[in-house]
Amino acid sequence: MFKFVARGINFLLGKSLQNRHIIVSSSLEYLQRKRDLNKNYFDYIRLATLELISEEIRKKKLTGSVAELGVYKGKFARYINLYFKKRKLYLFDTFEGFDERDVNTEKKEGFSSGSQNFSDTSVESVLSLMPFPNNCIPVKGFFPESAANIKDEFIFVSLDADLYEPIYEGLKFFYPLLVPGGYIFVHDFNNDNYPGARKAVEKFCAEENISFVPIPDSAGSAIICK
Ligand SMILES: C[S@@+](CC[C@H](N)C(=O)[O-])C[C@H]1O[C@@H](n2cnc3c(N)ncnc32)[C@H](O)[C@@H]1O
Repeated sequence: MFKFVARGINFLLGKSLQNRHIIVSSSLEYLQRKRDLNKNYFDYIRLATLELISEEIRKKKLTGSVAELGVYKGKFARYINLYFKKRKLYLFDTFEGFDERDVNTEKKEGFSSGSQNFSDTSVESVLSLMPFPNNCIPVKGFFPESAANIKDEFIFVSLDADLYEPIYEGLKFFYPLLVPGGYIFVHDFNNDNYPGARKAVEKFCAEENISFVPIPDSAGSAIICK
């Protein structure tokens, strides 16, 4: 039924929706299960890709933890927690916004002004959003210093710290700890407001001689698979 409605919408309004960067499409029907997406979350491709990847990891029976660097209010971390419900989820953030050291590099290299304010959050408010808070390990502080005592293996990592330095440091820290078959999402890869994200991915992947897949989510993520 929905397919016919979607086709009708595309036929009548497709061109004008596309001009607003809105595409109507059926998706993930083959999973044949009820989806659980918050109606306020407006990046369907990012979430659907995360869900599919969690399925692959489950089928391969990979063992390890999951993590996000750059949690802010926990909007995406919530879904990591949901789709990897039995895994330990590390939540890395200053929970006070960007660090001056990263912003200085950002400005010096001409990437961005680093002026966005992400300080209106807290560990408590993030945990209250998580469906399985008991599996969450908040790691508050400046990354990579905050990760000095973390000894674990990872099956999935989301890097969403916007700026060049933490993303590059995140790749250097997590890639060696990623199990074969594991994935790293790097948000903002195709976001012109944060060109340092692309620079960090390109530099790290060239150094390690590894590849990535760019996906068409709203800020253009790159996905690395080991
Ligand atoms: C765009 S927000 C994250 C958005 C979040 N993933 C979501 O889906 O809503 C970027 C976050 O990265 C954090 N961050 C940036 N650099 C960091 C660093 N070096 N150490 C810890 N956190 C950092 C900021 O504090 C901010 O909360």
